[in-house]
Amino acid sequence: MATFPTLRLGSKAPNFQAETTTGKIDFHEFIGDSWTILFSHPDDFTPVCTTELGAFAKLEPDFTKRGVKLIGLSANSVESHHGWVGDIAEVTGGHVSFPIIGDKDRQVALAYDMIDHQDATNVDSKGMAMTIRSVFFIDPKKTIRTILAYPASTGRNASEVLRIIDSLQLGDKHRITTPIDWVPGDDVIVAPSVTDEEAEKHFPGFRIVKPYLRMTSLPEVD
Ligand code: BEZ
Repeated sequence: MATFPTLRLGSKAPNFQAETTTGKIDFHEFIGDSWTILFSHPDDFTPVCTTELGAFAKLEPDFTKRGVKLIGLSANSVESHHGWVGDIAEVTGGHVSFPIIGDKDRQVALAYDMIDHQDATNVDSKGMAMTIRSVFFIDPKKTIRTILAYPASTGRNASEVLRIIDSLQLGDKHRITTPIDWVPGDDVIVAPSVTDEEAEKHFPGFRIVKPYLRMTSLPEVD
């Protein structure tokens, strides 16, 4: 039986070289000093994938504002991607300018364990297993910080991808965590590692709901 890498939160993002719609890349060079969202699609010219890529293309300025690069992947050739990008613009109004990796041989999909193990019918014309809808959030140190996995049937939520980036970046900056359904501007949780004395200094007026649940606003966050 084939073995697959185990990528967990905190794993180093595997490097690879690949052909993309914007040219050949070395993935770690592509990441550089940025945050990166690597997201996969099952197949070109398919309905859900088309809506997803259009949405990510329209939101690209919001990712750029946060210092985040987008890079897609689909288990087809780069030539096929170029044709599909035209359709995406026509159908959604989203112009994809970030790279889409051509991964018809599943080299990157295997390295990132993006292969569909659940739906045996999710195969291409040669019977090769398709990729699922994975999202890898990779920080500038090339550490994987969040992994999402959706089946082919279910389109992702682009706002949730942005929300996760906001939570991760805010947590790195302020020693806070974010509660259920948090959105930027809402109160946040003082990280458990922060003592009450430190919290008084860094988060004046913070509220002790329970000794283990301390809330604060972050007035400087827009
Ligand atoms: C879709 O994007 O709609 C799709 C892709 C692969 C299999 C099924 C649906």
